[in-house]
Amino acid sequence: MTKPSCEDTTLVRARDLHHGYFSFTFAPYPRVAECHPGSFVHVQLTSTDIYLRRAMSVASVNTRRHELEIIFKVFGRGTAALSRFTTGSKVNILGPLGVGFSKPRSTYHPVLVAGGVGFPPLMFLAQQMIDDGMDPKNIHFFYGGRSERDLVERARIKKMGIRFYPATDDGSLGDKGLVTKSVEKFIKDHHAKERLRLYGCGPEPMLKAVDELGMQYGVAGQISLESPMPCGIGICLGCVVKLRVGGHARVCCEGPVFEIGEVVL
Ligand SMILES: Cc1cc2nc3c(=O)[nH]c(=O)nc-3n(C[C@H](O)[C@H](O)[C@H](O)COP(=O)(O)OP(=O)(O)OC[C@H]3O[C@@H](n4cnc5c(N)ncnc54)[C@H](O)[C@@H]3O)c2cc1C
Ligand code: FES
Repeated sequence: MTKPSCEDTTLVRARDLHHGYFSFTFAPYPRVAECHPGSFVHVQLTSTDIYLRRAMSVASVNTRRHELEIIFKVFGRGTAALSRFTTGSKVNILGPLGVGFSKPRSTYHPVLVAGGVGFPPLMFLAQQMIDDGMDPKNIHFFYGGRSERDLVERARIKKMGIRFYPATDDGSLGDKGLVTKSVEKFIKDHHAKERLRLYGCGPEPMLKAVDELGMQYGVAGQISLESPMPCGIGICLGCVVKLRVGGHARVCCEGPVFEIGEVVL
């Protein structure tokens, strides 16, 4: 992890993605080149009475324009306050934080599994893999949510030319049922002939299922965890998880990305 710093930046673009989802772009953010898929920033809720920063994964960067994008869903008080920021607002960002995803070799077929608002860092990962020369047709993006409304930015994801597999609990889009059910079927059909690598980000029950699938079928990969994160810089120990080999790790420093099978979920 590189040494994080606090930077004042400006909200230059706010897009309402509907159904409680927002895309915010901040600029200039001087450390965009140090943001990697899985990196996150800690956003100060300037001019509100909310003291603790909120962790947000980096969804994309534009290194030429020094832009940093986050995508969030209004969940509680913190994200509701954030959603009320308007373009031109000054925002303090602590970052870049965390250890991100490691990219696979070009011979691998990455299987990205996103649940709800877990999709931004995986979208960033897919884009970087393409920028690094991977054939988009070898990237498999599974995206699950309660209903069609929860699967935002679909056109943007599909535009990358990757293989896209939506799944919804109510069957309003794609496979009906849990996204991990579709992923399991895919692994069964493909893991004998292709070298797969799993990447997961989403709610904990989904990550647990991805972790179990990886171990069951012998497919290596990584998952990105979300823990309550008071300080974000390794001091408070508010984010620790237990490791299978014994001991603990701080999600904010040793994570948020961990190897499949590494963490007790
Ligand atoms: C690495 C990481 C990346 C994330 N990326 C995204 C993302 O890309 N998009 C997204 O929508 N969400 C993301 N989250 C979750 C986000 O940070 C919020 O925690 C979540 O959206 C809860 O929303 P809220 O702050 O509105 O909830 P609130 O209701 O305001 O807070 C939930 C509860 O947690 C407590 N709490 C809030 N923050 C902290 C804290 N820092 N430490 C201790 N307790 C706290 C509050 O006091 C409250 O009781 C990420 C979290 C992590 C750890
Ligand atoms: S959030 Fe404080 S140690 Fe991780």
